[in-house]
Amino acid sequence: MRYSILTVCLAAALALGCSREAATPADGAAPPAAAKTETAVTSPAVVDAHSYAQPDKVRIDDLALQLAVDFEHKQLSGSATYTLNWVDKAATQLVLDTRGLNIEKIVGERSDGKWGDLKFALAPADKLFGSKLTIETPERNARVRVTYKTSPDASGLQWLTPAMTEGKKTPFMFSQSQQIHARSWVPLQDTPSVRFTYTAHVTAPKDAMVLMSADNDPKAARDGDYEFKMPQKIPSYLLAIAAGDLVFQPISQRSGVWAEPAMAPKAVAEFSDTEKMMETAEKLYGPYRWDRYDILVLPPSFPYGGMENPRLTFATPTAIVGDKSLVSLIAHELAHSWSGNLVTFSTSNDAWLNEGFTSYVENRIVEVLYGKERADMESLISRNELRSEFTDANKPLQALAIKPGALDDPDNNLTGTVYTKGAWFLQFLEQRFGRDNFDAFLRGYFDHFAFQSISTQQFVDYAKANLLDKYPGKVTQAEFDAWLYEPGIPSNAPQTPSARFDAIDAARKAWLDAGTLPDKAATAKWSTQEWVHFVEGMPDTLSADQLKALDAAYKLTGTPNGEIAQRWYPLTVRSGYTQADAAIAAFLQRIGRRKLIMPTYSELVKTPAGLKLAEDTFAKAKPGYHPITTESVEAVIAKAKAAPQAAK
Ligand code: BES
Ligand code: ZN
Repeated sequence: MRYSILTVCLAAALALGCSREAATPADGAAPPAAAKTETAVTSPAVVDAHSYAQPDKVRIDDLALQLAVDFEHKQLSGSATYTLNWVDKAATQLVLDTRGLNIEKIVGERSDGKWGDLKFALAPADKLFGSKLTIETPERNARVRVTYKTSPDASGLQWLTPAMTEGKKTPFMFSQSQQIHARSWVPLQDTPSVRFTYTAHVTAPKDAMVLMSADNDPKAARDGDYEFKMPQKIPSYLLAIAAGDLVFQPISQRSGVWAEPAMAPKAVAEFSDTEKMMETAEKLYGPYRWDRYDILVLPPSFPYGGMENPRLTFATPTAIVGDKSLVSLIAHELAHSWSGNLVTFSTSNDAWLNEGFTSYVENRIVEVLYGKERADMESLISRNELRSEFTDANKPLQALAIKPGALDDPDNNLTGTVYTKGAWFLQFLEQRFGRDNFDAFLRGYFDHFAFQSISTQQFVDYAKANLLDKYPGKVTQAEFDAWLYEPGIPSNAPQTPSARFDAIDAARKAWLDAGTLPDKAATAKWSTQEWVHFVEGMPDTLSADQLKALDAAYKLTGTPNGEIAQRWYPLTVRSGYTQADAAIAAFLQRIGRRKLIMPTYSELVKTPAGLKLAEDTFAKAKPGYHPITTESVEAVIAKAKAAPQAAK
């Protein structure tokens, strides 16, 4: 439920003052100034308020990393060498984004080929954006090298002790760079508007396999010394690394799973449709352009469901439930290979270009592989969430095109608007223009903007020429604009009937009205989506007897399915059904995926007893949580403590 994430953002904004202005560093470093010149017709200069970089002056074309993984000190150390493209021939500085990095030395390659020290200044840290690193480059060096170490609490890395892994023998480390955490492990122009190729030479203890968002070799020898190459230009948020006891199992010639040994067979079975998903997407939108597509299954502390790191999707183990019912996650991350990784938003304010398009493509893949009924149920679950998310207070974030300044922390932009309203807009366009025309349009769009970072305005211009004007009379400019710039959902949004959900609604009603439990023969066939809908449609609270009856029949408390758990536990908390408390504590300690656990934390903190359970559980869970999850939970608890308790 993305609702809770948005709530966290708003809460944080109110309680902690997370606005750009409030967070501006004391040294007066100003937010990036608007660029005056356009660099090219297809990539106008953009202003990314979430980065200090000045890509209108100089751009990183290539990054060469040299890193050592040190589990004991929870540290990456080494150097980053940039090949630079001096766009502005009068520029004298290279400005990079960093967060918590220890910068040891910076050298630049001079015109005589020799390398010499460069002066630099590291500004005091801004809470959201980190420290601006200004490097003096009077000679506009073709290459610059920064030698540095990461901090043990780098926001973009999680270091797990062996006890926190499946195998309990080897430590584990993984990155999560999106949205602005790459800067916590590599000094970079950390804005999606800059794309670069990269190579990496990484050393690690011999028992750790190292993988990156690059050309991982399924047969690589585990010798503690690894080389990587990403020959296609990617934005910084797609830079990724992981190290641990990881083995490979193939799914097809060009896809497979990396996981801890005990997890690998389950993961391969669950994700065995990956090749079919690739073929489906290729048929719709053209060839998969990234060579291999592998999936890395992470420990349950991974803070997201999935992350579309190129060639190597990072995935939560909570998607592995034994019946493939949650594999739309893989369809989603794979879809990003077109929408996001190939055509990328140029700032977080245009996030819908990534996530809305991807949610649309994901649903198309699900439709082909698992049928329209399942695709529709998944759409409806998302749309119901979206509706519950809209409030008067968050209107500025209900437009697909977010206005500059409206979004403070880009980590809090996993909203229903970006994902579900975005997908719904494309479903609206598909319906009006017809599937064939719309499919051809999207394919053309991905080709036209391939390997570029674009703004919503560039999409709008392209759609006007290739859709609105090409097929006149189908969609008016006003209709088009309402989706993009207005809050809420336009009244002419296509509605999706679902006979399967109608049956669930009827079953729920029969139970609520007359106490008739849905027949076991029927519920035995319910999919995750149907259970989710059954629970989600319940009244705000139920009696303890009612919850007990459901538990006796279906064992919802303690469910191993996180999608059901994330809806069931808030209901038990609201209803004062304390029998679920032990299972809640276990769930919140076992899983660190934000979307799954935040709804329960948010519900718990509303009463004194619940707040105590939340705090006690968090204290135990925190050592195993990712920094991103820790921050979200801390914000919810802090907000509850700041506000007077609603007595219950
Ligand atoms: N790219 C996102 C994850 C993300 C977005 C991380 C913004 C940080 C900032 C990824 O593709 C995603 O959308 N993950 C979803 C899963 C999906 C099935 C909707 C998630 O993690 O919930
Ligand atoms: Zn996504």
